[in-house]
Amino acid sequence: MTQPLNRRQFVTNTALAGAAIAGAPLLRAQSNLSGDSIKVAVIGCGGRGSGALENFMDACKVLGIKPEIVALADAFEDRVSGLAKKHGVAKELQFTGYEAYKKALATDCEYVIMATPPGFRPVHFAAAVEAGKHCFIEKPVAVDPVGSRAVMAAGEIAKKKGLGVVAGTQRRHQKGYLENKAKIDAGAIGEIKGGVIQWNGRIPWIKERQPGWSDTDYITRNWLNFTELSGDHIVEQHVHNIDVAIWFLGRLPVSALGFGGRARRVTGNQFDFFSVDLDFGDDVHIHSQCRQLTGAYGRVGEMFTGTEGSCFGGGKMNGKDVSIAEIKLESDNAMVQEHVDLITSVRAGKPRNEAKQIAESTLVAIISRMSSYTGQMIRWVDVTENEKSPFFAYKCPVDPLTFEKGAITLPAEEPPVPGTA
Ligand SMILES: NC(=O)c1ccc[n+]([C@@H]2O[C@H](COP(=O)([O-])OP(=O)(O)OC[C@H]3O[C@@H](n4cnc5c(N)ncnc54)[C@H](O)[C@@H]3O)[C@@H](O)[C@H]2O)c1
Repeated sequence: MTQPLNRRQFVTNTALAGAAIAGAPLLRAQSNLSGDSIKVAVIGCGGRGSGALENFMDACKVLGIKPEIVALADAFEDRVSGLAKKHGVAKELQFTGYEAYKKALATDCEYVIMATPPGFRPVHFAAAVEAGKHCFIEKPVAVDPVGSRAVMAAGEIAKKKGLGVVAGTQRRHQKGYLENKAKIDAGAIGEIKGGVIQWNGRIPWIKERQPGWSDTDYITRNWLNFTELSGDHIVEQHVHNIDVAIWFLGRLPVSALGFGGRARRVTGNQFDFFSVDLDFGDDVHIHSQCRQLTGAYGRVGEMFTGTEGSCFGGGKMNGKDVSIAEIKLESDNAMVQEHVDLITSVRAGKPRNEAKQIAESTLVAIISRMSSYTGQMIRWVDVTENEKSPFFAYKCPVDPLTFEKGAITLPAEEPPVPGTA
């Protein structure tokens, strides 16, 4: 797969992670989750924060552990109170505003579920690691190269502290995918020579601006349609399929060359569709295709062609019979299994740490978007090593820390024009 960060890269990236982790003491984790109960905090109490909390509670049930909610944090009061009501959480455990995450992390929580828009993840994750918490981080984990590298750096610190980190790329915790990956590694389809990965669907939702909303309220409520907070849908959704390609191939692409555009979207600054050639080296190319166009043909999945067969994601495989070890999971719901895997790994003293893996998959999605937006071909080294590249230091114009300081400047609600940047 990829090389571990060398010292120079590690130091550079740690600096980029900002004040939240710079100089953080390399302490052991405060908890090894070995008690009868686990104290949990949720940062981002929307659809997935609520869902992940239930998944966590189901995982606790499977493992015979009592879940204890000690903090709920969200930018908006209505989101926190909705989730609090559902679980009977006391008012003093509810925190609102853009600095609510700091208050949640200051509690005695041992386990943090992070499910805000991804633009905030690098700052929140670094702070959670500094506070010594085990982390479940929803995918994707950043929206730009600087943020992705900050997550890699915080992930290294988590490793030194003995903290567990699991990402919301649930296919990596799903039986069909785990079995197919094991069969591919055992030679079932020979060498992968190419494939196609797709997330073709509809626009999930848009939030129209309401009277009384500030620019900051509007971009946060309508985050799914602004690149600064979502990364665009190639990062926000399609990262799942990109992650599978990287996992099944066992290596990262060397470059991305993407096309894209906007036909129908009436809000925000994103594209409707992307088509990207991911060059994995050795003449292996994966076609990445995603669009959000209601009414158009839809398919979500992955297909890989090998020298001796083919494989459809976690489903059908045509190839040689190979024997693999039996894969036994505690839950057939991958979104529950990911919490089981995080908790059991920490309890066993071998914390799972998926920070690098999800930061890399996120960064591949980001270079695919940046290539499509600019019209330029972007190499992996341009965002990881080549500091002279204009893409290396790229940061989305709306900085997540600005939200904590006050008003942000709303980006123009128009898509980029390739070839002009
Ligand atoms: N693994 C999966 O299959 C899956 C599925 C859906 C969503 N997700 C991911 O989960 C994350 C959240 O998505 P969602 O669908 O729940 O969105 P959502 O809009 O329903 O929830 C996001 C919540 O975060 C809050 N928030 C925004 N900025 C915040 C901040 N700075 N501090 C605290 N709270 C803040 C919002 O008010 C909102 O309640 C995204 O990264 C998304 O990609 C993953």
